[in-house]
Amino acid sequence: MTSTHLASRMGTNNPRLIALDRTELDICDSPRVIEFVARLRPDVLINCAALTNVDGCESDQEGAFAINADGPWNLGKACKTCEALLVHLSTDFVFNGQSDRPYRVEEPPNPLSIYGESKWRGELAIRKSGCRHLIVRTSWLFGHHGRNFVEAILKKAEAGEDLRVVNDQVGRPTSTIDLTEGLLRLLESSTEGTFHFANQGQCTSFEFAVKIVSTSEFKVIIEPITSAELVRPAKRPAYSMLDLSAYESKTGHHLRQWTDALRQYLRERKGRRTHELNPSRLQMNSTAKSGVELDRNSTGLFQREN
Ligand SMILES: NC(=O)c1ccc[n+]([C@@H]2O[C@H](COP(=O)([O-])OP(=O)(O)OC[C@H]3O[C@@H](n4cnc5c(N)ncnc54)[C@H](OP(=O)(O)O)[C@@H]3O)[C@@H](O)[C@H]2O)c1
Repeated sequence: MTSTHLASRMGTNNPRLIALDRTELDICDSPRVIEFVARLRPDVLINCAALTNVDGCESDQEGAFAINADGPWNLGKACKTCEALLVHLSTDFVFNGQSDRPYRVEEPPNPLSIYGESKWRGELAIRKSGCRHLIVRTSWLFGHHGRNFVEAILKKAEAGEDLRVVNDQVGRPTSTIDLTEGLLRLLESSTEGTFHFANQGQCTSFEFAVKIVSTSEFKVIIEPITSAELVRPAKRPAYSMLDLSAYESKTGHHLRQWTDALRQYLRERKGRRTHELNPSRLQMNSTAKSGVELDRNSTGLFQREN
């Protein structure tokens, strides 16, 4: 989801961008990662690859640690050898959710799930590799090109199904459109280290679902429930608000509210759907589709100009 948006934002024809999907570069394949990076000698390598199925990670612990911890270690080692900057995405799920105020960057993680633990170990691996790095923790992502909470809610609402959504987990929904701009701003500021990035505001998952449905003008019933009523394999933090001050003071950019970002996403989504359904636009649509195919990637390398 994030990688596709990032690649299309940077331009599929951008000669300085090489966007790779899993079939082209499996980040778990250490020799191939080392060889690939040594050959391309990128200035910046952006890693969006991850195993993001939070419940799935509980039953595939080996896969979770291989992709979310060993993969970043491979990338870190490779970047170290050619002094490339490694940009890596991490998650609010590294925290245990016991706080009563937004988590600052330097607060100690204490993940509750295999997903959170594997992502935390990925962060540690990158720092240990000694490479130049920019680690950006984000939360509750939604965007075009992928499975996410907004799409899951809309799918049910479109089918006229009533919903039950947990009302005791608080966080900050974040648009991949805004995340992409945030990553580019951080890159422009030539900074390194760890940052938190999310849209401003806060809500529970239930409040998020209500906003998605009401903005889309669906009429379905949404029942608030507790986490205890929804038995799931992975435990989620009750409170995973990220403190955004480090990002905002470094870039001078004040982040917008998640409600504004959601409105933009839903407006664009409606436009995309109209576009897809309009036969007079078939030619343009097929072009757009092949663009999306080209955009599939999870890792981006920016080549040196010299
Ligand atoms: N989604 C969220 O709500 C959220 C919240 C906080 C942080 N994050 C973090 O943000 C980043 C992006 O998340 P996202 O939701 O945009 O991800 P996503 O849509 O799940 O995409 C992850 C991508 O990683 C690829 N991948 C998996 N294993 C790989 C491997 N071994 N080598 C190369 N590529 C591999 C996947 O390819 P296949 O499809 O072929 O498997 C997929 O294209 C992740 O680091 C995630 O942990 C996400």
